[in-house]
Amino acid sequence: MIAKKIAKLRDEINYHLYRYHVLDAPVISDAEYDVLFRELAALEAEHPELITPDSPTQRAGAEPLDAFEKVTHPAPILSLANAFNVEDLRAWRARIGRLLPDPEMALAYTVEPKLDGLSVVLTYRDGLFVQGATRGNGEVGEDITQNLRAIRSLPPRIPIDPTSELPPPPLLVVRGEAFFPLDKFEAFNLARMEAGQPAYMNPRNAAAGSLRQLDPKITAVRPLTLYVYDFIAWGGVDAPETQWDRLALLRGYGFPVSLDSRYCPDLACVAAAYEAWHEKRNQLNYEVDGIVVKINDRPLADSLGFVGKDPRGAIAMKFPAQEQTTKLLDVQVGVGRTGALAPTAVLEPVEIGGVIVRHATLHNYDEIARKDIRIGDTVFVKRAGDVIPYIVGPVADLRDGSERPIEKPSRCPACGEPAVQIEGEVAIYCDNPACPEQLARRVEYFVSRAAMDIDTFGGQTAVLLIEKGLIHDIGDIYYLSRDGLLALEGFKEKKADNLLAGIEASKQQPADRVLTALGIRYVGGVVARLLLDALGGIDALAATSQEALEAIEGIGPGTAVHIITWFANEKNRRVLEKLRAARLNFAVEKQESPQTTAPLAGLTFVITGTLPAMSRNQAKAFIEQQGGKVTGSVSRKTSYLLAGEKAGGKLTKAQALGVPVIDEAALQQLILDANQKHTVR
Ligand code: IVH
Repeated sequence: MIAKKIAKLRDEINYHLYRYHVLDAPVISDAEYDVLFRELAALEAEHPELITPDSPTQRAGAEPLDAFEKVTHPAPILSLANAFNVEDLRAWRARIGRLLPDPEMALAYTVEPKLDGLSVVLTYRDGLFVQGATRGNGEVGEDITQNLRAIRSLPPRIPIDPTSELPPPPLLVVRGEAFFPLDKFEAFNLARMEAGQPAYMNPRNAAAGSLRQLDPKITAVRPLTLYVYDFIAWGGVDAPETQWDRLALLRGYGFPVSLDSRYCPDLACVAAAYEAWHEKRNQLNYEVDGIVVKINDRPLADSLGFVGKDPRGAIAMKFPAQEQTTKLLDVQVGVGRTGALAPTAVLEPVEIGGVIVRHATLHNYDEIARKDIRIGDTVFVKRAGDVIPYIVGPVADLRDGSERPIEKPSRCPACGEPAVQIEGEVAIYCDNPACPEQLARRVEYFVSRAAMDIDTFGGQTAVLLIEKGLIHDIGDIYYLSRDGLLALEGFKEKKADNLLAGIEASKQQPADRVLTALGIRYVGGVVARLLLDALGGIDALAATSQEALEAIEGIGPGTAVHIITWFANEKNRRVLEKLRAARLNFAVEKQESPQTTAPLAGLTFVITGTLPAMSRNQAKAFIEQQGGKVTGSVSRKTSYLLAGEKAGGKLTKAQALGVPVIDEAALQQLILDANQKHTVR
């Protein structure tokens, strides 16, 4: 009886784990799951003899090991030959053709993501997960069963769905790739660094490091997952004849199988899939270094044999590398518009994904210290998608002792004023508002498309005007004289007039752009609109307290502090007055919406008693039509109580709260009065 109950709970929980971690489609809430899990744990505590290895309570139950045992794989765990482009792919197809009776025979393929993780081999006996191993040298790997059991998407028993009609296979050995999802990687690394542990260089290293833990309890708290893609050995069941059907059967058993895999009837489809994958590469939640192309007909593929450890029937089509190593030659310090001093790496030029990279961001000095990056180091540089190339970390093993630490700047490289570190912030700042470099960045931002959008105002112009002393702050932009411009090198009449016309036209920009253009930290376009929607204008914003700012939906304490500090600054105030005197828009232009012009807009009514001409429902509809709101009970927020005959408790309450009481005639009068006011205005 108890044994049955435990077995049922076990299956149920395993199924819900599968729904959650493999299908991404849970059918019960986390709370309901917890109830089931606790119930099972309690029953197992009373009956430890009934605990089985596939119980969800056993995922991280094992004791730490001293070392991993060796495991001999039932068949070699092979590798793959590489192709780097469609030409290589066609060459591969031609090579295969020579081994086929008909070189031109039609072949279908599967295209699977080539995950950049760790190859694992999983053994199931009579449906029960009994062993998991690393690939090792392809013949002998290491037994990491306990660690793999801790991965929640790994089925402890197959088929995992208790209603499945598939019989549990007597023996099934499958291969897959364990990996660290990207969305979890960054947060995980940050937490590690905060705890004083070294960060992992990339998700692949994190996956490998997590699986090679001797204590499965550590693996259990790492968000690893896996995809399964191949049959290695089987007994008492038939493996399907095609790779596509194999993937389907694996999925049917409850293994996580990539849903991104594709069936391709010909090579053109494969080539197109390669391009498509390449494009979406940086949008996936896992790292892929290419696609794997497999001949769908498995007996045929297997009959082609191997070259070394690479089967001829499949090939990896690699994407261009996104990471390379090169030498860090120097660090330059840039000055941002907020004064933040940004360290930029000067690199020995290196090609990454078809582009020569000479510079990369080092983010900030905390990051440099954490990663212990030194000048002269060989470093990993990554360039992925649209992100600016950045330094992943140093290859510490390649140091020869000549490397020098990277010093935090004590002064601004542009103006020479002392650099300061603001409490609670990682960046180091140049605190000099007159710093020419900072000013150039601020002017560039002010005129940029995101802000005042003055397209006749180029970046070079900003630098020149500052250098010649025509601009000392962003306010000066509106006081440039034609003569002053004409005296500058490279300024002919047309150029000067264009620039002045662009500046003049920008005076029409709405207040939210003006606010954005001020360059207050964290106040970009979206936040500027939020602030002005709530407050109506820049002057109101300048007068608002920290608490009142934080009360605005979407404004946090960090943003509020920067706003307060900005407006408290005497120099900023003077800039603001220059802009006001130039007649820039400081207030949101009022749009008369039908809601606000409706006579009863903003008023709340409660209706009670019997009205002379209208039913209560008619009265309600009438009030709403005129823009008012009708609620059911009287409170301090009620504007008027509309009362007819036989009014009861609501009338008493309204009188007690001082809510004005009106009758039907007074309501009509109210509307007339309101309409009159609007026409006068
Ligand atoms: S098939 C004979 N399929 O890539 C079959 N491998 O470069 C050989 N990999 O060692 C492997 N995703 O660790 C295959 N869908 C996939 C894969 C995949 C990742 C890894 C695997 C293999 C390496 C070959």
